Amino acid sequence: MPAVVVLGAQWGDEGKGKATDLLGSRVDYVVKFNGGNNAGHTVVIGEEKYALHLLPSGILTPGVVPVIGNGVVIDLGVLFAEIDGLESRGVDTSQLLVSANAHVIPSYNRTLDKVIERFLGSRRIGTTGRGIGPTYSDKMNRVGIRVQDLFDEKILRQKVEGALTQKNHLLVKAYNRRAITVDEVVDELLVHAERLRPMVADTALVLGDALARDDVVLLEGGQATLLDVDHGTYPFVTSSSATAGGACTGAGIPPTSLTRVIAIAKAYITRVGEGPFPTELFDEDGERLRTLGHEFGTTTGRPRRCGWYDIPIARYAARINGVTDFVLTKLDVLSAWDRIPVCVGYDVDGERTDELPMTQTGFHHAVPVYEYLPGWREDITGARSVADLPANARAYVEFLEERSGAPISAIGVGPSREATIVVRDLLD
Ligand code: GDP
Ligand code: IMO
Ligand code: MG
Repeated sequence: MPAVVVLGAQWGDEGKGKATDLLGSRVDYVVKFNGGNNAGHTVVIGEEKYALHLLPSGILTPGVVPVIGNGVVIDLGVLFAEIDGLESRGVDTSQLLVSANAHVIPSYNRTLDKVIERFLGSRRIGTTGRGIGPTYSDKMNRVGIRVQDLFDEKILRQKVEGALTQKNHLLVKAYNRRAITVDEVVDELLVHAERLRPMVADTALVLGDALARDDVVLLEGGQATLLDVDHGTYPFVTSSSATAGGACTGAGIPPTSLTRVIAIAKAYITRVGEGPFPTELFDEDGERLRTLGHEFGTTTGRPRRCGWYDIPIARYAARINGVTDFVLTKLDVLSAWDRIPVCVGYDVDGERTDELPMTQTGFHHAVPVYEYLPGWREDITGARSVADLPANARAYVEFLEERSGAPISAIGVGPSREATIVVRDLLD
């Protein structure tokens, strides 16, 4: 039972953290394979609530080895603040491994992320401002700084110098900011080197050995399918590969080791930042979803845009990722409606389609076609089996399952670990 992926089926914040935590006690390694501290996962265990950004959610389970894979971009200050925050609450982080090949986010990339957004004006992406995009650009542009560079000051200095020749041009000439010196960047990074050193490993080798021993490796995606740089609603996406293919690249394990791809989907949809969103609601229903679902960003606190469940998006996620199981979350939030619309297709400039439009323009023009399902108007937060759900809630789940392209193997009915209906074992 080797590698299992947990990823987002929509635009993020589906409840991936809770799902990973739920499986935590049965896995040996939990690997974050993409993104950085743009992610925000809230995990509720008993009375305790944890907000995780850079660390994989598996860190909350004793005995699991948490791994930050090569595909991640790391803000070192944030990493250590998060570790200290967890340690002060009694969470053991001593097993954490960090890939020597992961890239670090120097402060100039946070500055650039913010000024680029400001200069884009109405064309902005609505990024989290954490330096994610500029750091992945540097990686592709081959001027990035990697974790391993921190342990060879001469090399680090050369690399920072190389990067700054480009960055200072941009900062000074394009964006009217002050130039940055090599010394200040080197100092800012080296401050963390000694604390980081014992965590650094050839994580692809560690995971390869783990898989050879038949240990269970869980790959935890940040962001989601429609925020993926290749398969999402480009350019309104993040800058990493959040899909199943990215899990292999970002962890350094082969596609043939994946045995299960678990996609997390909310029973409705939310999105943070700019970009097309066909089922978005601008009325009372949207406001109600936001309030009842507590739809405010874990990372930036921004109100999330809310809309109804979108079947073409779920089917797309199933196809792109080879999804074997869906986990449907936040079904409890829908208990407040008499009638629940579900998007079954789109009208794009007068033509009906059941697939995501091929072009960005098509996506912007897509008008949802709805079917309406009866609500249940009953508190379902105590349900622990499908039989505990009211008939209309079961019918809603069945309707989604028949059309979304993969079975729904678990259903979330509340934020806590226990508030989950397991239909089918996710690791068996
Ligand atoms: P992630 O980024 O995918 O890990 O998701 P977030 O943590 O950003 O957002 C999901 C939010 O929904 C968190 O506050 C969770 O505690 C909460 N949550 C997860 N599953 C459920 C559920 O089934 N019902 C309710 N009401 N809340 C849930
Ligand atoms: P989790 O893992 C929701 C969005 C941002 C913005 C776009 C690009 O918690 O689901 P970036 O800072 O990544 O360059 O911003 O992507 N975004 C997320 N939205 N959940 C996330 O993570 C997100 N990470 C990035 O709002 O629209
Ligand atoms: Mg989140």
